Amino acid sequence: MREIKRIACVGAGYVGGPTMSVIAQKNPDITITVVDLNQSRIDAWNDPDLDNLPIYEPGLDAVVAEARGRNLFFSTDVDQAIEEADMIFISVNTPTKTYGKGKGQAADLKYIELCARQIARVAKNDKIVVEKSTLPVRTAAALKSILDNTGNGVNFHILSNPEFLAEGTAVPDLHNPDRVLIGGEDQEAIEALVQIYEAWVPRDRILTTNLWSSELSKLVANAFLAQRVSSINAISELCEVTGANVDEVSRAIGYDSRIGPKFLKASVGFGGSCFQKDILNLVYIARSYNLTAVADYWEQVILLNDHQKDRFAQKIIQTMYNTVNGKKIAFLGWAFKKDTNDTRESAAIYVADHLLDEEAEIVVYDPKVSAEQIYRDLDYLGTRSPAENRRLLTVVNEPREALTGAHAVAILTEWDEFKQYDWAEVKNGMKKPAFVFDGRKILNRKQLEGFGFQYYAIGE
Ligand code: NAD
Ligand code: UGA
Repeated sequence: MREIKRIACVGAGYVGGPTMSVIAQKNPDITITVVDLNQSRIDAWNDPDLDNLPIYEPGLDAVVAEARGRNLFFSTDVDQAIEEADMIFISVNTPTKTYGKGKGQAADLKYIELCARQIARVAKNDKIVVEKSTLPVRTAAALKSILDNTGNGVNFHILSNPEFLAEGTAVPDLHNPDRVLIGGEDQEAIEALVQIYEAWVPRDRILTTNLWSSELSKLVANAFLAQRVSSINAISELCEVTGANVDEVSRAIGYDSRIGPKFLKASVGFGGSCFQKDILNLVYIARSYNLTAVADYWEQVILLNDHQKDRFAQKIIQTMYNTVNGKKIAFLGWAFKKDTNDTRESAAIYVADHLLDEEAEIVVYDPKVSAEQIYRDLDYLGTRSPAENRRLLTVVNEPREALTGAHAVAILTEWDEFKQYDWAEVKNGMKKPAFVFDGRKILNRKQLEGFGFQYYAIGE
């Protein structure tokens, strides 16, 4: 049995950072170096003040505090980490392509390929290369070809080990995973990775499959999860016109043990770096095999999600007498879900863009997202000039600044603190009639209406 003493992980992002921190925490005898090209990200991982870690995840600071400097290191020296490692995780980003063939759908594998070429160039002894990034099915074949044909004649074994953590709960998800999935061909390499996880994960939760099943299962898991959100969001619109209440419907169907209660919370639409990207990728793969019905089926999950974001913005405009021009709308939340500072594909971005088209004055408060990030998200859309975005949208550090004098409040992220506000006082400080548009269904209709709000929540 091959003993793994040193691990390198290329990519110190939302997955590489937390995953390696937990592997290091649970395997004190293995030295793990997480490397990245991004100097400021690595500096932040090395910051003595744990409040400055580049990623906000509850509980992550304690894990990093335990392992960092003992057997967990962060560095920009990619070559050295690769050279010394027995096992190399690839955890770089795999965004949707923004150019060329497959633009807007296929996964952009340029970072993966660069990584593979670097590993091939540097490796002087046999390595196990682990795909941690989410990849199109059959990527391992391309990786193997690059490694074998551009390397120094050493042996590479490729494993697929997709990550299933969700942001905001990364640490508990890593500590107590529903399952760990390992796909591969070489039994010895598979066993080497199994042993690392066995340090804390029960053996019966470590599943092994062939490479292609593992790669595809990751895309399918995200597609099924997103499909549940789009399914309940579709029903939320039907609830609004029929008098049914979507929370009651979720509860009623979720009690069926075959359906189950999770991922049935209607919302302003799912966001995050992966659901959309991975489904688009699945759709692209299906189309590339001429499986049109399969591709069309999964594409609907995205189309419905776009519709849900659009519909929420429309509802705000219609309810406010068909004009939001010059009206102050307080945005509570910008992150794609609570307990993360990640804003990738957040519904808030698209709802804001829609309302800014109507010349609304948006004031955003999010407890963890910076103003720079918010403007970056809006500027990236290219809908209007950066100067226009800054003229129409302001970011504040205190919720009161957003709420005072507002015509309406729109809740875009389900941060717990929003539930604790003194909503009677909020109402007093607002223009009348005071509207609340609850895109996350976190407030209590009876109470809000009691205070005199015009309250709209998805699916009611
Ligand atoms: P990220 O953008 O946060 O991090 C990726 C990092 O890789 C960046 O810091 C980038 O600088 C670095 N990088 C890129 N190319 C490099 C190279 N050649 N050498 C060194 N560093 C390089 O991305 P992420 O959210 O951590 O996602 C990584 C992968 O994991 C993606 O495939 C994603 O689909 C998948 N995934 C993400 C999540 C999540 O919750 N974010 C969960 C499961 C799976
Ligand atoms: C998701 C999956 O849950 C992870 O298993 C997976 O590893 C990860 O994608 C990935 O591959 O990146 P994440 O996107 O971090 O994790 O967060 P989720 O909790 O899945 O939420 C995704 C979006 O769906 C959020 O915007 C959330 O608000 C929304 N959502 C979720 C709902 O609107 N309703 C729900 O019932 C659940």
